[in-house]
Amino acid sequence: MASFILLFFLLAVPSAVQAQSSIENNSCITCHSDIWEEELKMSVHGRENILCQDCHGGDPTTLDFDAAKALGTGFIGVPDKKKIAETCGGCHANVETMNFYGLRTDQLARYQTSGHGKKLFGEGNAKVAVCSDCHGAHKVLPIADPNSPVYPLNVPKTCNHCHGDDKLMSEFGLPSGIFKTYEASVHGKALFEKKDLSAANCTSCHGSHGAIPPGVKDIGAACGKCHVNEKKYFLESVHVKAAEEGKFSECISCHGNHGVQRASKMLYREACTTCHEQGSAAAQEGEKIFHVLAKSERGLKTAEALVKRASIEGIFVEEETGALEDAKTNVISMAPVQHSLSLSKIAELYQKFEEVAQEIKSRVHKKRQALKWRRAALIPIWIFILMMACALWIKYKRLKGR
Ligand code: HEC
Ligand code: HEC
Ligand code: HEC
Ligand code: HEC
Ligand code: HEC
Ligand code: HEC
Ligand code: HEC
Ligand code: HEC
Ligand code: HEC
Repeated sequence: MASFILLFFLLAVPSAVQAQSSIENNSCITCHSDIWEEELKMSVHGRENILCQDCHGGDPTTLDFDAAKALGTGFIGVPDKKKIAETCGGCHANVETMNFYGLRTDQLARYQTSGHGKKLFGEGNAKVAVCSDCHGAHKVLPIADPNSPVYPLNVPKTCNHCHGDDKLMSEFGLPSGIFKTYEASVHGKALFEKKDLSAANCTSCHGSHGAIPPGVKDIGAACGKCHVNEKKYFLESVHVKAAEEGKFSECISCHGNHGVQRASKMLYREACTTCHEQGSAAAQEGEKIFHVLAKSERGLKTAEALVKRASIEGIFVEEETGALEDAKTNVISMAPVQHSLSLSKIAELYQKFEEVAQEIKSRVHKKRQALKWRRAALIPIWIFILMMACALWIKYKRLKGR
């Protein structure tokens, strides 16, 4: 214990003293105390003693304005966007510096491949997002901090600063209503209303540093990261070849992208015929699957109603409720499996469901029968009790008469 405390003092105290003195003696901070106190001090960088001169250059040892910013001190003033990417990115791409913080070092490399980076470095267009547009410049917070602009709940708003700007987006021929569409989607509702951080936000599908629209071939990978089963069964479907040839956008051909809604079998009526003519072989195959799905849903409802009624009638339905859960599981598992578009696989699940449903039906029937018999058996007993009561009454009257 003692050696631990000694170690703590040896390691922590000198570096704390050093950090303190470097802040007190830093002339940038002396003159710009507002930026330090209100922004940088709270940031990931301020806490690590990364100070003004690390991003802006200049000489922090002199209180003379001109000397602090003289030529030869590397002072860059307020950096333009390209310079920002290089300054932030340069440090963050340094494997040695980042090693002990467990941070990735590919932000700049990815950024250069993004729609943003290509426009900035390729065309010198400074209207795109750069590091500080998404993270801030002075008050950079850890990405896991709920106040960070890149915390999952805040990402859509951060992107929407620019992507919701009509005038800016029209310059690039991009739509400006994505946020609204997203907000009303199953993902947007899960994120904003349920605070479900596992729901897709803008960067889950686009990447953050490498933000680009997923190409036709990459969409399935983007959605499949989270919807693993749907992706697995999709890969068994007739559309795989068309998807490989770029003629079919894996998931969004049926679900859409920003406005993804809760899915139901009705997609067989709505989505298939956008590509396949009504009455074509493919549409007919879809119709068959639709009917099996519809039959299962109806069957499940009937079975649920049966068990509920039986329970109200006073029948003990613990076993049937358990079987009902099995039946439900079968029906729920049809939703991922139908992505194979394999009628036989769906029919197989239906078969299993039907067996359980029949079992429930016959059990309830038997129990009802048994209840009826038990009730019937009670009738003579009641008659007997009634007769006994009458006899006792008569006896009592007679005794009283005497
Ligand atoms: C003697 C006080 C003083 C010192 C020391 C000082 N600054 Fe400044 N700085 C100012 C004032 C005042 C302004 C605003 C007036 C102006 O822009 O000319 C300014 C402006 C700036 C700007 C924005 C304006 C621009 O375009 O250049 C940056 C960035 C900046 N300082 C960074 C630094 C850094 C980094 C240091 C330390 C190496 C530093 N300053 C040291 C007083 C100081
Ligand atoms: C992690 C890098 C980084 C650090 C550390 C940093 N800056 Fe900046 N600073 C920037 C960037 C990037 C911008 C440009 C912001 C933009 O254009 O949105 C900027 C902008 C500025 C500006 C002009 C805009 C404004 O906010 O007033 C001043 C002045 C400035 N910095 C001074 C300072 C001072 C003083 C310090 C130290 C207390 C400091 N900076 C520390 C990156 C940094
Ligand atoms: C379009 C917005 C955007 C831009 C531009 C951007 N970032 Fe990020 N950054 C994010 C988001 C969102 C995250 C959260 C985690 C993730 O999705 O990777 C993040 C995470 C990070 C992290 C933490 C990574 C880790 O390993 O945990 C660092 C460091 C970072 N960014 C630095 C940068 C640097 C440096 C640049 C400029 C070259 C930059 N970012 C540009 C949005 C952006
Ligand atoms: C002098 C090197 C240096 C510069 C320049 C720099 N950073 Fe950092 N940055 C670091 C270090 C070191 C950390 C790790 C701090 C920690 O984890 O305590 C860090 C952490 C971060 C994090 C937090 C990651 C996490 O843990 O969640 C983000 C985001 C980030 N920096 C973004 C930026 C942005 C944006 C810029 C430019 C405005 C920038 N950095 C400039 C060194 C630098
Ligand atoms: C500072 C403004 C700004 C911010 C913030 C911003 N973007 Fe952008 N973004 C743009 C501009 C401008 C373009 C147009 C460049 C182009 O034509 O590729 C663009 C392009 C894109 C593209 C490529 C579109 C295409 O068809 O080429 C995607 C994808 C994208 N942004 C996603 C995002 C995401 C995701 C975020 C948030 C994490 C975000 N952006 C934040 C300004 C911004
Ligand atoms: C569920 C996944 C997903 C989410 C979440 C998502 N996107 Fe997209 N986004 C896509 C796909 C897929 C495309 C490509 C559309 C296509 O090829 O038809 C796209 C296209 C885009 C484009 C290019 C538009 C065009 O018409 O060329 C931009 C810009 C964009 N998204 C920004 C955003 C922003 C900002 C958010 C958050 C508010 C967001 N996206 C959320 C999947 C998503
Ligand atoms: C050919 C059209 C089609 C394609 C392509 C498609 N889906 Fe579906 N998806 C559907 C239909 C129809 C349903 C509803 C099934 C039901 O409720 O019985 C559905 C349901 C879902 C559900 C809800 C499942 C559940 O358990 O309730 C998710 C999640 C989903 N799809 C994701 C995906 C993903 C990810 C991809 C791409 C790998 C994809 N879908 C491709 C038609 C499609
Ligand atoms: C980051 C993970 C993630 C990504 C990426 C993602 N989703 Fe989702 N998705 C979710 C979560 C979590 C839910 C559940 C939301 C809820 O039920 O409230 C969901 C719900 C859905 C649903 C509704 C399921 C139902 O019960 O009917 C569909 C359909 C869907 N996603 C399709 C897609 C498509 C298509 C893509 C790609 C364009 C995609 N998702 C990308 C996480 C993701
Ligand atoms: C975005 C357009 C698109 C949508 C939506 C779509 N398909 Fe297809 N489908 C195709 C393409 C392209 C092929 C491949 C034709 C080929 O490879 O020759 C195909 C092939 C098929 C085939 C193989 C037999 C044939 O005619 O080639 C079946 C079966 C099929 N689709 C069923 C469906 C069903 C069911 C749905 C709705 C749940 C659906 N498709 C939705 C584009 C689509």
